[in-house]
Amino acid sequence: MLIEFDDSLITGNDTIDEQHKELIKKISDLVTSCENGDGKVKAIKMLDYLEEYTNFHFSAEEELQKKANYPDYDKHHAKHEEFKQTIKELFDYLDELEGPTKDFADKVQVQVVDWLFKHIKSADRSVAEYIHLNNNPDIV
Ligand SMILES: [Fe+2]
Repeated sequence: MLIEFDDSLITGNDTIDEQHKELIKKISDLVTSCENGDGKVKAIKMLDYLEEYTNFHFSAEEELQKKANYPDYDKHHAKHEEFKQTIKELFDYLDELEGPTKDFADKVQVQVVDWLFKHIKSADRSVAEYIHLNNNPDIV
C-alpha cells in the first residue's frame, strides 16, 4: 500500500508540513519493509528510525505550541505521548515475533498510519491555524 503525503494532509504551517513529509516517509519505509517480507532486524531498524524522527518532530511541534501559548497544549501533548507509547508497544510486539507478520503490519496501519493521518487532519491543523492567526492578528 502506498503511504504518502498528499494535499489533504497540509496544515498550512511550513515547518510542520515539511516534518510531516519526513515522518510519513519513515512510516512508508516501515510499511514497505513489512510488505517486502524483510527480516526482523531490518523491521526493528525501520521502527527505530521512525521512533527517532517522531520524538524529534513532536518536540518541535510542542515547542511551536508553547511559543504561541496554544491553549490545547496539554491535550495535544497527551496525544503525542499516546503515539509514543504505541511505538514502544510495537517494538515489544515485534520483539516476540520472528519478523514482521501480517498482524504486525495491520497494527502499523491502524495504530500508526490511520492514527497519524487523523491527528494531522484535526489536532495539527488546529495548531497551524492558531499559530497563523497569532502571527497575523490583523486577519479577521
Ligand atoms: Fe501533533
